[in-house]
Amino acid sequence: MEKQEANKKGAIQPMPKVLVSCRGLDGEDNALVVGYCGNCSYAPPMVMIGIVPTRYSYDMIKKSGCFVVNIVDKRYKETFDFLGKYSKRDCNKLADMKVNLEDGKVVNAPILSDCPVNIECTVVDSIMTGSHEMFIGKVEYVHADSNLVDEEGNIDFTKIAFI
Ligand SMILES: Cc1cc2nc3c(=O)[nH]c(=O)nc-3n(C[C@H](O)[C@H](O)[C@H](O)COP(=O)(O)O)c2cc1C
Repeated sequence: MEKQEANKKGAIQPMPKVLVSCRGLDGEDNALVVGYCGNCSYAPPMVMIGIVPTRYSYDMIKKSGCFVVNIVDKRYKETFDFLGKYSKRDCNKLADMKVNLEDGKVVNAPILSDCPVNIECTVVDSIMTGSHEMFIGKVEYVHADSNLVDEEGNIDFTKIAFI
């Protein structure tokens, strides 16, 4: 295999496609598309999400200290695209897309009911990496569609039709 130098940006692919939901201190809910995210500790279980400080959601996560990572499947594509295109600054996007919400079980942020997996997280640290601030979230509770979970609680991710 012959190699040549390629661009550095977004070098790890495929990029995950998740929706992060959050709640401001005034009780306002929001959600945005996040591609800069991943697992970052096995024990204890931790995930990280990268949020650009100009996002409307940024202050909400920074101040509330929690967020929910919602794994999305193809049935949610239209909503996913909308939430990644429009800011809460410009429209009430959750209401516009009739997004079904429930309160988190542990953290004070909404979960997106129609997503098959919702991961509730508490922010334990953050680092400004450059364009994004990486929020490290301790995984507090994972909600998963019962059709996906085996007797030991493991999620069969092969059953999710990822976007
Ligand atoms: C495929 C895709 C990936 C994205 N990844 C990120 C990301 O990792 N971090 C981020 O801050 N914004 C990301 N965005 C942009 C936000 O989702 C978008 O700017 C959104 O409108 C912000 O909403 P808000 O201002 O209501 O928080 C991504 C958008 C798309 C379409």
